[in-house]
Amino acid sequence: MSSVAELLRLHPLCEHDPSTNSNFHEFVHHGTALRWDVDFDASKVTGTATHTLEPVGTPSRIVLDTSFLEIHSVAIDGVDTPFTVLPRAEPLGAPLVVEHAPAAKFTLQVAYSTTAECTALQWLTPAQTDGGKHPYLFSQCQAIHARLLLPCFDTPSVKVPYSYRVTLPLPVVVSGRPATSTEGNEYSFDQPIPIPSYLVAIASGDLVLAPIGPRLAVYLEPAVIDRCQHEFCADTERFITTAEELVFPYEWDTYNLLVLVLSFPYGGMENPNMTFATPTLLSGDRQNVDVVAHELAHSWSGNLVTNASWEHFWLNEGWTVYLERRIIGRLHGDAYRDFSAIIGWEQLEREIVRMDATPRYTTLVQDLSDRLDPDDAFLSVPYEKGLNLLLTVERAVGGTAVFDPFIPHYFSKFAHKSVTTKEFLDTLYGFFGDKQAELDLVDWETWLYGQGLPPKPVFDTTLVDECYSLAASWAKAIASGSVSELERFVAADVAAYTANQTVVFLDTVAEKCAWGLAMGAAAARHMREAYGYATLQNAEVVLRFFRVSVRARVEEEYPRLAAWLTTVGRMKFVRPGYVLLASVDKALAVETFRAHELGYHPICRAFVKKDLGL
Ligand code: BES
Ligand code: ZN
Repeated sequence: MSSVAELLRLHPLCEHDPSTNSNFHEFVHHGTALRWDVDFDASKVTGTATHTLEPVGTPSRIVLDTSFLEIHSVAIDGVDTPFTVLPRAEPLGAPLVVEHAPAAKFTLQVAYSTTAECTALQWLTPAQTDGGKHPYLFSQCQAIHARLLLPCFDTPSVKVPYSYRVTLPLPVVVSGRPATSTEGNEYSFDQPIPIPSYLVAIASGDLVLAPIGPRLAVYLEPAVIDRCQHEFCADTERFITTAEELVFPYEWDTYNLLVLVLSFPYGGMENPNMTFATPTLLSGDRQNVDVVAHELAHSWSGNLVTNASWEHFWLNEGWTVYLERRIIGRLHGDAYRDFSAIIGWEQLEREIVRMDATPRYTTLVQDLSDRLDPDDAFLSVPYEKGLNLLLTVERAVGGTAVFDPFIPHYFSKFAHKSVTTKEFLDTLYGFFGDKQAELDLVDWETWLYGQGLPPKPVFDTTLVDECYSLAASWAKAIASGSVSELERFVAADVAAYTANQTVVFLDTVAEKCAWGLAMGAAAARHMREAYGYATLQNAEVVLRFFRVSVRARVEEEYPRLAAWLTTVGRMKFVRPGYVLLASVDKALAVETFRAHELGYHPICRAFVKKDLGL
């Protein structure tokens, strides 16, 4: 096996972020001031981005990332300066170039507007909101959409403090803390902790504030306020204190949640001070709160210590999933920690099989040097392979008691900085100087650069065993060919199941039962009746039951699936949902998508189009 030094020699990790056109490395960036006028009628943000820069050496020009921005003017230290916008090239956009750069610290102010092509923003009409009276706006900049909202060094290796001054007619939140000078339609915010461009965020609409815990407030549309208090009040403060015990005290002062509209394309997004979350978390059963634990954990992994480029995205997400599940483990017991790991592992297995044709996405460290869109590479691999690598390291050094002191060490060493996989490895080997041999047992080459599944760690299966055995009984009943066998499956089988147990049960039956047999459809119909699946709320479970129904060719479920797809916006459900529907009724899938595409977020819309081959 190659030593880690040898490994790093074989794979010199590119320190330049291939997903930016900018020459960020030629400057020290001290901060950015944003001044935005939000025009809901024109669906447009107009404003200025003012960057304070200091040259390193003697750069001959300044190159910023932009994409579909209309640039009005550029000024250096207040003096108008000529500029050019180079022709755009997908997916990185159209660089903005100023053909000279001052020799000492200066301000670069760009005046600009967003355009209709802006994938960083979604503008909703009043009819598309819960309240129905006011328009709504929200941003999503990760991974490389910040350049559609502001001209910048759009790379996670540059982190700076931000200030925001926003003029608009409705309440607004950003990824920062309110500053005192708010008046009339003008709102000011500060983000004093240096953040990368992908964490710049804004949302506005008929937002009200619901205090939930000692440190938590939730911003949301008034219609969902009660459901929200019920869903989050029990857990969030405990998550924060547990995370603080694992890492170190929370640095960002406030931790607030914004519960968005249904078209928000993710489960959650860790915008600093203001996690953005899908309203589908409000499932009434508090079964989605791990998403909150996840986004909160990003306050350390991702937001304080940031991946230096999207090639090292696993350092953001793998660490975050690790911390999320450590939090869950501390609060509910290790069996729950392993339960989530098993679900994650099974998802990883399925995805790696599906990516047979594009195995490049299955490596932990990605190679994006051919300027691939980092959004295309965001699957479970950085999350679940990343988690399992950290788990393997935790076990290699002797378990959590030995591993845990490394957590605050790593996060304090790189706080306010950006890291590569090499720096992670150097720090790990440096910290565990006396455990070199144990660390060398980890097959780093396979874990970091190998395609496909890594070696599977051993998990505690206490909570999944009963789901597996129930699924096995179903498989046996279906194989028997005798419909009367179904009668023994009754509501009590699953009455005590958590949503996660239902997920495991449905994933297992979907795979292990011979749905193609004559009895398949009858079995799926019986499952729906006996187990009360007609009234499922939790989207994780709903999608999985549709998968079973489609495999069993229960035709009356196809229009139900189509209808459900118009009520969800999270890509995790929308994309596989359309693929599933298209697998049995392409025309219905296309017709449903066409009728509702304007309701989907632009990022989601583009992916579904690609998935359906439109
Ligand atoms: N930062 C991600 C969301 C993201 C990733 C947005 C890549 C854009 C590009 C966020 O923290 C996340 O992982 N969300 C998950 C939540 C889950 C893992 C608990 C999601 O949305 O499904
Ligand atoms: Zn995440």
